[in-house]
Amino acid sequence: MAVLASWVWVLAGCFSAAVARISNISVLYPPFWEESPEQLSDYRLEDGKHIINPWIFTDRMGMYRILLTETATYFARYGPENEQNLLWGLPLQFGWQYQTGRLADPTGMRDCGNELEESLCISVDSWWADVNYYLSVLPFLAAVDSGIAGLSPEQITILPPPKDQMRFCYNVSGCQSAFPETMNRWRDFFQYMQLPSSDFDGLLKKLWDAHTLSLEYPTRAFVDRYNFYSDQEASFEKNWAITVYYLGEARLPTTLIRAHSFQRGLPPRVLDDIDIAPFIPDFTPLQNKVLVTLNLLGDIDRYSGSLSLTIWESLMSTKFARKLFLNAFEEFLGTSP
Ligand SMILES: *[C@@H]1O[C@H](CO)[C@@H](O)[C@H](O)[C@H]1NC(C)=O
Ligand SMILES: *[C@@H]1O[C@H](CO)[C@@H](O)[C@H](O)[C@H]1NC(C)=O
Repeated sequence: MAVLASWVWVLAGCFSAAVARISNISVLYPPFWEESPEQLSDYRLEDGKHIINPWIFTDRMGMYRILLTETATYFARYGPENEQNLLWGLPLQFGWQYQTGRLADPTGMRDCGNELEESLCISVDSWWADVNYYLSVLPFLAAVDSGIAGLSPEQITILPPPKDQMRFCYNVSGCQSAFPETMNRWRDFFQYMQLPSSDFDGLLKKLWDAHTLSLEYPTRAFVDRYNFYSDQEASFEKNWAITVYYLGEARLPTTLIRAHSFQRGLPPRVLDDIDIAPFIPDFTPLQNKVLVTLNLLGDIDRYSGSLSLTIWESLMSTKFARKLFLNAFEEFLGTSP
């Protein structure tokens, strides 16, 4: 008991130290956060329905902002200012994709996301945008269906992309029949959240379960997108998807400050064919190091036929091991408190 109590003290100390270093956490919010819809009524109304176009950056970000706002109450007991909300990882990752040019048209045939001025267009040809669809629209619809936001599915219309419409779903019933397991996992997460008995570790587990399952369909369905990228970027995409499964087993806490610092190691722009880590001159040493590590992890996973993931899963099965990993991981990133 004494050991546990001292751990809680250490953790609480780390958290307040981190908050003290960042006087106003709003600097960590993803791009265009304040400009994105915060409630359904901020979306255009047409024939009694609110129109969400997930192929416009602020429209898709708005779904995250609504989720963060509506779930704040369930995370309030873990820390102030919604900083401990585990959903932050999703909009931060999406913001990183935008800032690094990964949501723009990769074919070079269209302007989408590529104009000189900041463009909010999201390209359906972007592998990143397609995979993220399953991590934004699906959780949003599952949350609506779980009654989190006090919204009804009939109030919402989600617009299709200009092509490949059959590879996406647009409403609760459509997504439920096309991706029942993914929708069920997200609904589990949102329903568990509303239980008085829910706790942080339980939330973290259910979030990662839903997150990793959401990747299964899009990482198979959008392999044709790899052709639009350099070999280096295509490998990074494959390795990143693999890495997320490993991070998920380690149940990385995707709270605001942490998720923000985890992203410092990710490549700050789309990779070209000549970008060979660890020798990319305009990347930081950490960004080079992270790319090397992702390549290595991707190779290990492929050569072992994912046996390495099974082994990792059993290694990470205790809370103590996950805590050790988190410490080592933050040490590696140079972000340990
Ligand atoms: C943080 O900064 C934002 C925008 O600059 C401001 O609106 C907000 O009131 C600030 N919050 C605190 C707690 O100072
Ligand atoms: C839901 O979307 C599907 C297509 O994915 C469509 O066929 C169906 O009519 C939509 N349902 C409602 C209630 O809008």
